[in-house]
Formats: sequence, C-alpha cells, structure tokens
Amino acid sequence: MSTIQLDHINVIRNDQHILHDISCTFPSGTITALIGPSGAGKTTLLKLLNGLHSPTSGEIYFDDAPLSSMNLLQLRADAGMALQSAPMISGTVYDNLNLPCVIKGESLTEEVALQLLDQVNLDNVPLSQDIKSLSGGQRQRLSIARTLVNQPKVLLLDEITSSLDPRSVKEVEKLIHRIHQDHQVTIIWITHDVDQAARATERYVMLRDGHVEHIGKSSTLLNSEHATVRDFIEGEEL
Ligand SMILES: Nc1ncnc2c1ncn2[C@@H]1O[C@H](COP(=O)(O)OP(=O)(O)OP(=O)(O)O)[C@@H](O)[C@H]1O
Ligand SMILES: [Mg+2]
Repeated sequence: MSTIQLDHINVIRNDQHILHDISCTFPSGTITALIGPSGAGKTTLLKLLNGLHSPTSGEIYFDDAPLSSMNLLQLRADAGMALQSAPMISGTVYDNLNLPCVIKGESLTEEVALQLLDQVNLDNVPLSQDIKSLSGGQRQRLSIARTLVNQPKVLLLDEITSSLDPRSVKEVEKLIHRIHQDHQVTIIWITHDVDQAARATERYVMLRDGHVEHIGKSSTLLNSEHATVRDFIEGEEL
C-alpha cells in the first residue's frame, strides 16, 4: 500500500509536450480510473510510475520516497503493471509466472505458483500447460497473477479488459476487487469504458491533452456536472 504523488510532472519527447505540469495524488489503498481521450497521455503517466519512462521535470513520490532515488528493480517489484495485450513468452504457464523471479535470479516454487493461479481462478489450469492454448480471458488473468509475484504495493492496469468478452470483463473486475481487498494495493486503472470506471473504481482522474482536466468520485461520472467530462462520456469531440 502506497500513496503516489505526482509533483509538477512534465514529459517532453521529440519536442512534443506530452504531460504538462501534472500534480495529483493517488491515495494509499484507493482504486482510481485514469480516463480521457486517446493520446491524452494516460499510458505515458502510467509508465512513469514503474520507471519505464522518466519525467523531463518534476518528481514522483511513493509515500515519501522520491522515485528518482529508488532502485529500478525494486520499483518494478513494488509497482506491478498489466497491459491489454498481456504479453507472454513462449513456453508454459509456469515459465510465464516465473518471469519476474528469473529477472532477479530466483525461481518460484511450485506451491507459490499454484497459490497464485488459485488467486486468479486459474486453479484448473496446469502449470505445465502451453501458453498458446490459453483463452484471452485466461491469459489476462495469468498476466494479473504475474503482477502479484512480487507482492506489489501498487497495481497499474492499462486497458486490461478491452479485448475480452463481457463475461471475462466481469470476472477480471471481480478479481481486481478481490486483490484490492486482500492486499490493500493502490490501483490505477486506465479504461476507455466509462461504465467500467463508474462501477469498478472509487475515483477518477481525467486527462486531456496532457493536462489533468478533472478529478472526482467515480459514482458521479455518469451524471457529471463538469461539461468536459460530460462531453467526453457522450463521445463529443473535445
Ligand atoms: N515513445 C514515444 N515517443 C514520442 N511520443 C510518444 C511516445 N509514446 C507516446 N507518445 C505520444 O504521447 C502522447 C500521449 O500518448 P499516450 O500513449 O500516453 O496516450 P493515451 O492517453 O494512453 O492514449 P490511448 O488512449 O490511445 O492509449 C501521444 O501524442 C503519443 O503520440
Ligand atoms: Mg494508452
């Protein structure tokens, strides 16, 4: 569990100002939806939080520790990230679960691997199963299990349900809630599905053109009084 604080964050890449002076807080143990139009800078912001990108200026704090002074391996362990594409290496379910350990020169015991599968409702899938034979929903659940290997304090989710069928979407949402309850992690969840943001998260941060446009309670999202949020939800051009 960690409070994440962004303090005057700017990201400039190839002369393009991608994030403008972003200051906001993700309180410890909360689930926040990160929403906004395509190109607003959501993925860029998320990648700052596990060290995949560095800010051009400004500082990010996990609790009171500046990210710039943290060891990159430790940061990646503390902040687990799952992506829409749920990237996997060829091999077995175990090989993929074990990946975060291999990077540290360790290996996962079978017992812990089975516990992790159990946590994401994949207890019927053998560790020796070829990764290629998993369905999209199973693959995404395995990707989430993999983020749990290092017992992260923060979970970063980038459109993890956008290529799943409605039933798998609901399963993944339930799963994320269970993980949130059991481990009290701080979760930041990028989603294009505003209904999902409203039902599955507590608060939202809306980005637009690299700026924070609005921060509010997710329960107010579908009846927002804020004109730009309303236009975004109604699919108007912003
Ligand atoms: N590696 C990069 N180099 C240069 N520009 C980039 C890079 N990655 C992203 N951008 C630019 O930064 C801006 C924000 O992109 P980002 O991927 O963060 O948006 P997003 O809100 O996640 O969009 P989407 O909803 O489509 O995923 C875009 O204009 C994009 O073209
Ligand atoms: Mg993105």
